[in-house]
Amino acid sequence: MKLTEIDHVAIAVADLDAAVSYYEEAFGATVNHRETIEKDGVEEALLKVADSYVQLLTPIRDDSPVAKYIQAKGEGIHHVGYRVDNCQEAIDQVRAAGGRLIDEVPRPGSRGTTIAFVHPKGAFGTLIELVQE
Ligand code: CO
Repeated sequence: MKLTEIDHVAIAVADLDAAVSYYEEAFGATVNHRETIEKDGVEEALLKVADSYVQLLTPIRDDSPVAKYIQAKGEGIHHVGYRVDNCQEAIDQVRAAGGRLIDEVPRPGSRGTTIAFVHPKGAFGTLIELVQE
């Protein structure tokens, strides 16, 4: 397994529309995809940058992990998504290397991807998402 691309950098924001407007006006970015992921309690806007995305992420419920993140740490970088060819193989390799997984088996992500999260504890403080397109 290897990482083939940075899929996205996810940024937790309190006001998604305000953040999208800022990225449009300040950086000329355009929204490529917008989706609500009910299970994770978030709404996201994906702004394409070359072959990667900036993922602006806002909570839709108070019990959403992103809501708790913003309460504890404020807005800012929430996780980094790395593209992999095979999510299950990537999970197995992280486990074999002694990493801690949040998702032991791959699950559906946004825009039809298959994903798994790696716990920041054991990953030098960064929440990592493995993304298979
Ligand atoms: Co993500």
